[in-house]
Amino acid sequence: MTSFEENLKISWGKIPTGVAVLTTLENNGDVHGITINSFFSLSIKKPSILVSISKSATSHDLIVNNGIFGLSVLNSEQKKYAEFFSRNNQEKLPDEFKFISLNDGIYVIENSLIQFSCELDFITSVSDHTLFAANVTKVNSNDSSPLVWHKSNFYDL
Ligand SMILES: Cc1cc2nc3c(=O)[nH]c(=O)nc-3n(C[C@H](O)[C@H](O)[C@H](O)COP(=O)(O)O)c2cc1C
Repeated sequence: MTSFEENLKISWGKIPTGVAVLTTLENNGDVHGITINSFFSLSIKKPSILVSISKSATSHDLIVNNGIFGLSVLNSEQKKYAEFFSRNNQEKLPDEFKFISLNDGIYVIENSLIQFSCELDFITSVSDHTLFAANVTKVNSNDSSPLVWHKSNFYDL
């Protein structure tokens, strides 16, 4: 990484963000998750969301192939999900992890702050990442407090 890239990374890290886990299905039907903080609302009128996923992530091709995914915005008690799904070479899912089905083939994390059901609309390549724009077909939320990512650490709000 160049010093400019390092500076850019440190600078972006100063912005507190929410944390989400995007879930897709593997070929054998197992849930596969990736921790992300680059996600935002594209439009409410045309309910849609944008996420940015590294081309080197296992999740990348799973999203392309499945065309659908779940997105769970984590609450402050769900740090363990964020940590687990930010590791490559994921081991077996811990038994304590609980998922619920929102739509056919779409799983989200139980009790997460916000649960989105998403259907891929279009994709755009940006260097080493792909932007996935998806239509939101279902959304649930509760009043728990969000998990926050700031300067490479997780915090409660
Ligand atoms: C707080 C946090 C936010 C992250 N945000 C993203 C993101 O927006 N997009 C991305 O591609 N990776 C992001 N990552 C890195 C992925 O979680 C990580 O590379 C993961 O191991 C990829 O999993 P997979 O290869 O099994 O799909 C983030 C990691 C952390 C800890």
